[in-house]
Amino acid sequence: MPAHLLVTGGAGFIGSNFVHHVLAATDARVTVLDKLTYAGNPASLAGLPEDRMRLVEGDITDASLVDELVGGLTGEDDAIVHYAAESHNDNSLNDPSPFLHTNLTGTFTLLEAARRHDVRYHHISTDEVYGDLELDDPERFTEHTPYNPSSPYSSTKAGSDLLVRAWVRSFGVRATISNCSNNYGPRQHVEKFIPRQITNLIDGIRPRLYGEGLNVRDWIHADDHSSAVLTILEKGRIGETYLIGADGEESNKDVVETILRLMGRDAGDYDHVTDRPGHDLRYAIDSTKLRTELGWAPAFRDFEAGLAATIDWYRGNEDWWRPQKAATEAKYAKAGQ
Ligand code: NAD
Ligand code: DAU
Repeated sequence: MPAHLLVTGGAGFIGSNFVHHVLAATDARVTVLDKLTYAGNPASLAGLPEDRMRLVEGDITDASLVDELVGGLTGEDDAIVHYAAESHNDNSLNDPSPFLHTNLTGTFTLLEAARRHDVRYHHISTDEVYGDLELDDPERFTEHTPYNPSSPYSSTKAGSDLLVRAWVRSFGVRATISNCSNNYGPRQHVEKFIPRQITNLIDGIRPRLYGEGLNVRDWIHADDHSSAVLTILEKGRIGETYLIGADGEESNKDVVETILRLMGRDAGDYDHVTDRPGHDLRYAIDSTKLRTELGWAPAFRDFEAGLAATIDWYRGNEDWWRPQKAATEAKYAKAGQ
């Protein structure tokens, strides 16, 4: 069990969920390193015990700051858990440059510090590194699926995974990697699919479906992602990759229609808009390795109940998301979305 974790990107959606989870489930202390970009929000860490959680505002490419923080991880099981990233595909199509900076140079900077100080490192990644599947493909992604990323975002995440593998093999860095499917839950930025549609409906705007809406995503609650990462930190084998998923495949059309129904609206009350260039068709994760080798299982098995709770969260926390909403919609409007 780690005594002290450095969580990069801990003010973002999934990183903050992990910080909440770790502080509740263990006695560990957490230092969050976050640049507080448009996607980082200190309010996501509000109310956590001040004697166990510290937020450091800074960039993961700042080698001297990273060296100082990683040097503070002195226990055998202390670890870096690297969530920080530019995470949104649509943004990466408009301007790939910050994706190269943060996802590649940032990962390199953390790996070099982990190497210098011999600190355990866990790398958070995505199923998008594997490209996409046909709708009727009986196979799902496994740890052996070849990399085939489609977008500037997913290609920089794929590159960062390969850096980790090389640092394990060439320098003996004690690292693990996890590749997870699409997360949903509270505190997700309103640029992402599910919160965008929920907050649109709160504002009386019709949901926006890219293209025909037949694309499939494999949804997992962020709490289940966090429990899986903690399991890998505690029991994972060094040098291994684990896929995280909860058997949650849904088409975008079905998700929008469910949200509309749960919010008391007609299921057909949405608009089709310009499709995303290079839009991946389907993601699907086979998480057998994580379940059988490490004994992990998801707690959220009812997607509709998870969505209903997420809708309630956005209804009850308008002060958290409202400041981001107008600028996000203005950006989408420019792209005809
Ligand atoms: P997010 O965009 O909500 O949060 C990213 C966080 O990183 C923000 O707090 C931001 O301020 C911080 N950050 C960005 N650049 C930084 C820099 N240079 N230095 C320090 N901090 C910086 O992202 P998310 O959706 O929470 O994703 C977190 C991680 O999980 C990413 O690595 C992403 O690739 C991965 N992931 C996401 C999903 C998903 O469905 N959202 C699924 C699988 C994997
Ligand atoms: O699979 C894991 C990935 O999931 C993570 O690595 C990424 O960080 C995360 O952003 C997510 O990527 P997606 O591109 O799948 O998520 P997004 O929320 O942007 O879109 C989900 C689907 O919904 C996708 O098929 C595009 C579609 N979409 C999205 C928006 C914002 C719409 O139809 N309408 C929309 O308004």
